[in-house]
Amino acid sequence: MRTPVLAANWKMHKTVAEATAFTTAFLPLVADVDDAAIVLAPPFTALAAVAGACRGSRVATAAQNVHWEPRGAFTGEVSLDMVRDAGASHVIIGHSERRHLFGEDDGAVNRKTRAVLADGLTPIVCIGETLAEREADETAAVLDRQIDGGLAGLTPDEVGSIIIAYEPVWAIGTGRTATPDQAQEAHAHVRRRVAALAGRAAADRCRLLYGGSVKPANAGDLSAQPDVDGALVGGASLDPQSFAEIVASGRPR
Ligand code: PGA
Repeated sequence: MRTPVLAANWKMHKTVAEATAFTTAFLPLVADVDDAAIVLAPPFTALAAVAGACRGSRVATAAQNVHWEPRGAFTGEVSLDMVRDAGASHVIIGHSERRHLFGEDDGAVNRKTRAVLADGLTPIVCIGETLAEREADETAAVLDRQIDGGLAGLTPDEVGSIIIAYEPVWAIGTGRTATPDQAQEAHAHVRRRVAALAGRAAADRCRLLYGGSVKPANAGDLSAQPDVDGALVGGASLDPQSFAEIVASGRPR
């Protein structure tokens, strides 16, 4: 039985005051949730404030990115020591916006994933095809390449401990969600590929989240799919009530 994960990716939204106000309103709404993991990913500037506000609750925090080197002359980058010091237990890696707007490739995703694991934090590794790739019937090939490249060199135990977010690029921020069948088909493919790479036991443990226009109205049907173990939520996670409803629909039933 895999514990579902409901993760909020706030992207470049919320000041410290706004992030703290969200957390103060949100925590009471999920206080009784003990059968799902909840993760909030604020921007770096609000990470320590949100992690501090979540201390003593079951809600965890994530960084939205990290650099793989421990320190050095990397202007604008943030290290694992820094995100752990701010209170994060998870790190989102290879989000499609990082890949498409900032040129991150599978090699960078792999270096970051390995660094996060070596540091004892949990990576949330994002994969997904563009609309052009889906229409050209390349979805499976793209996912295979991202899985093989991003997870290269990980032990089966490490693969079992990570979280993978399948986020079709055409569904992110567009209001166009994958249908539950499309999500299940892609997730089943991802799990098979992870099994080929790291063995069945690792693939059965690894949590696979769906992301892309998840909302309170569709979260239940998506989460009910056998290979969907929760959601990575952007726009609909910015409001405490909306994200709490998504958490409620993502809980095991
Ligand atoms: P969205 O974003 O829910 O706004 O589509 C999801 C994501 O990018 O993680």
